[in-house]
Amino acid sequence: MGKSTILIGFMGAGKSSVGRALARRSGIPLLDTDKEIEKKQGMTISRMFENQGEESFRKAETEFIQSLLAREDAMVISVGGGLPLREENQVLLRKLGTVVYLQVQPDTVLRRLRGDTARPLLRGGDVRERVEHLLWQRAPIYRQAAHMVVDTDHKTPDEIAAEILTMNGGGL
Ligand code: S3P
Repeated sequence: MGKSTILIGFMGAGKSSVGRALARRSGIPLLDTDKEIEKKQGMTISRMFENQGEESFRKAETEFIQSLLAREDAMVISVGGGLPLREENQVLLRKLGTVVYLQVQPDTVLRRLRGDTARPLLRGGDVRERVEHLLWQRAPIYRQAAHMVVDTDHKTPDEIAAEILTMNGGGL
């Protein structure tokens, strides 16, 4: 198994902010798959969904994590909420290192992402219903993909990062 730490979980679970806190505490560089894919494609994820469709974004996600296998350095990697749903991606993530599932309740997602316009899957219609349905669908997959599960409700990113470090024996 690789030596990176990979944060997975639903939109609003805090993958990016916990990733930043973990990187700061451990001194290990952070990599965010959404940001890297946006940079590579030269457009936002919303635009990618609109112009090329979700499937094309999913393909870019798999290609990107595949490319990370060639790297030898340890990283903190926060991945887009839908990335672990593909089985081949689950295998790739576990090759890269320790997979940590940041668990979150629908109420927390709705509170944290109120007013968000960057996430195409949460746009329009009854957002609560969509979050509850998607979470219900995805939670078993996230759980199965992960080595470790951490609850994130009512905690700050720094508290969650500290908990991950403790669970991991004090470091990454
Ligand atoms: C998605 C989550 C988003 C982003 C895209 C699709 C998903 O990332 O990759 O909008 O399918 O859950 P975050 O989990 O960082 O919001």
